[in-house]
Amino acid sequence: MCGIVGFTGVNPASPILLDGLEKLEYRGYDSAGIAVISDGKIGTAKTVERIRNLIDKTDGGKAVPGSIGIGHTRWATHGGPSETNAHPHLSGNRKFAVVHNGIIENYVELKEKLIKEGHIFASETDTEVVPQLLEKYYDGDLLGAVAKVTSMLEGSFALGIVCTDYPETLVAAKKFSPLIIGCGKGENYIASDVTALISHTRDVIYLEDDTIAVISKDDVNLYDYNKNPVKYDVSHIDWDIAAAEKGGYDYFMMKEMCEEPRAIRQTVDSRIKNGSVVLEDISLTAEDLKKINRISIVACGSAYHAGIVGKYVMEELLRLPVDVDLASEYRYRNPITDSKTLTIIISQSGETADTLAALKEAKARGSRVLSIVNVVGSSIAKASDDVIYTWAGPEIAVATTKGYTTQLSVLYLFAIWAAEQLGTQSKETLAEITESLHNLPNAIDRVLDSKEKIKKMAKHCVDSQSLFFIGRNIDYAVALEASLKLKEISYIHSEAYAAGELKHGTISLIEEGRTVIALVAQEDLFDKMLSNVKEVRARGAYVVACANEGDTAIEAEAEEVIYIPKVHKLLRAAVEIIPFQLYAYYVAEYKGLDIDKPRNLAKSVTVE
Ligand code: F6R
Repeated sequence: MCGIVGFTGVNPASPILLDGLEKLEYRGYDSAGIAVISDGKIGTAKTVERIRNLIDKTDGGKAVPGSIGIGHTRWATHGGPSETNAHPHLSGNRKFAVVHNGIIENYVELKEKLIKEGHIFASETDTEVVPQLLEKYYDGDLLGAVAKVTSMLEGSFALGIVCTDYPETLVAAKKFSPLIIGCGKGENYIASDVTALISHTRDVIYLEDDTIAVISKDDVNLYDYNKNPVKYDVSHIDWDIAAAEKGGYDYFMMKEMCEEPRAIRQTVDSRIKNGSVVLEDISLTAEDLKKINRISIVACGSAYHAGIVGKYVMEELLRLPVDVDLASEYRYRNPITDSKTLTIIISQSGETADTLAALKEAKARGSRVLSIVNVVGSSIAKASDDVIYTWAGPEIAVATTKGYTTQLSVLYLFAIWAAEQLGTQSKETLAEITESLHNLPNAIDRVLDSKEKIKKMAKHCVDSQSLFFIGRNIDYAVALEASLKLKEISYIHSEAYAAGELKHGTISLIEEGRTVIALVAQEDLFDKMLSNVKEVRARGAYVVACANEGDTAIEAEAEEVIYIPKVHKLLRAAVEIIPFQLYAYYVAEYKGLDIDKPRNLAKSVTVE
C-alpha cells in the first residue's frame, strides 16, 4: 500500500520526509517522491529505485530546500511504476502538490472534463485529477478549494496537499484510507502510518473520514466539507517501532487479514457501475469471448486454490468447461490449448517462475492470456494480453490472505462480466450476485469481529498431529486453502478432502479424537454433508463445523460451530475462508511460531 508523510515546521523538511519514507519502506513500494516549498516555488525529487537513491540524489535532502513538504511511496495501481507516475503530483500552474493513497473511482470522468477545459496531464494516475481540480476551484481560499474538490471525489483517499500561496500550511483530507496527524513542538506532521512519525512524536490525531485538516507548525484545525470546525482528541502512542510497522498488530498476517474488507472494496467497487460489472482494464470483448470454447486456469499454491473456486463459479455462470492446473504440472504435460482457449493466470506476486513458464507455454500454443495479478508491472503482468489487478496492496506475510480473497473477488467480477457478455444468465441473477459481491466486505468484517471465539476454538487442535478438512463443491475448494493455511504456518499436517470421497479410503484414518473440520455452507448439499459429518463422528471424530448463519441443524452433529454471514452461494468462499485464516494464525500463535515467516517458505517463488 502507498505511504504518505508530510511536515511543516522551521527545520529543513526534506531530511524529515526522506526519513519518514524510509520508515514506510516495509510496506512495499515501487517508486517514491517528495515536494517541498521554498521561495514560493515547489521543488520535487522522485525515484523508481530505493529511498536510499532519493537520499543520494538529493544530497540527503539539501537539493530540495524548504521547511514544508510532502512525500510518498507509491505502490502502482493506475499506471505502471515510473517517475512520471510517482507522487507528488503538481497542478498545471505548479501552485499545488498532492500525495494520495487510495483509489479515486470517478477519475476517468473528472479527467476527461478537465482535459476538455484545457488542463494538461503528465501522468496516467488517478491522483493527478486532484491538483488539477484544486487549480480549477482555487480562488484564494485553500480550505474552500480542498472542501469543494474532496466532496467531488468518489472512492477512497488520504491526501496530503501543499500550496505555494500558503507556504506554512499543510492540508490533509481523508475518506476510507488512514491518515494521522503528528503533533510536535513548533512542528507538525502527517503520515499514513505511525511508523513514519514515531521517532518525532507520539502524540497523534487520527483523522476521521470526510474531514479536512489545516495544519501549521503551531496549530491543527479540523473542518467538515462545509468548513465547520470539527473537534478532535490527541492520542498518545506507546508502541515500539517494530509494532508500529505492523500497525500495532503482532504480525503482518493479522494486519493483512484485517485489511481484507478494504482490499476487496478497492478491488471491486470501482469495477461496479450502476449495478453492473465494468472491466475497463481489459481489451477482451464480447466477440472475443464468444469465440472461446474453454477456459484454462493455471496457478500455484493458494492462487491455484482460488482458481478451483473460479472453476465452480465460472462453469455455473458461463456454462463453459473450465480446467484448473498447477503451473508446475501444466508446463511439463504437453497441454492441449489453442486460440479457442482463454488461459487465466493467477498470481499475487506476478513473479512465480512456474506460473510465468506456464503462461509462456499457453501463449506459444496460441491461447489468449488474461492474468489476475497484484503487482503492477510484474513479469506475469507484462507477459499477458490482459491483466485485471487485485488492488490488495503489498502482502508481506508469507501466507497469503488478502491476496487470495482479492483473487477470488476478481474471479467473481470476471465471471459476472463474462456471463453478461455471453448472455448465459438473466439480468436479475447477475444483479443479485453483483450486489452480494459489493456487500462481501461487510460480511468479512463480521467474521473478523468473531476473532476471539475462533481463537478459543483454535486451542483445541494445538497438540494435534493431523486433521481433516472436508467439504463439497465450493466448500471443498475452501477446504483446500484452509488446509494449506494451517499446514504452512502451524506445521500441523492436515488434508482437505471432498467429503464424498472420504469413504474411498481416507476414512480409515478417522479415529477417536481426530479433528475434522466440516465446511457446510452450500445449502443444496447440506444434507449430504450432514451424512458425511455423521460418518466421521460415528468413528470418534471431534467435529468443528462452519455453516451459514441460521443453519443451526448442524449443532446436533458438531462439537463446535463457526457461523458465517450468508452471501450469494457462488461467493461464499471469500467469507468462509476467513475463519480458517484466523484459525491457522491462532494455532501458530499458541505454538509460538514465527507466523509471518514460516520455515522453508519464501514469499515469491522465483525458482522452479
Ligand atoms: C500460500 C501462498 C502460496 C502462493 C503461491 C503462488 O499462502 O502464499 O501458496 O499462493 O506460492 O504465489 P503467487 O500468487 O505469488 O504466484
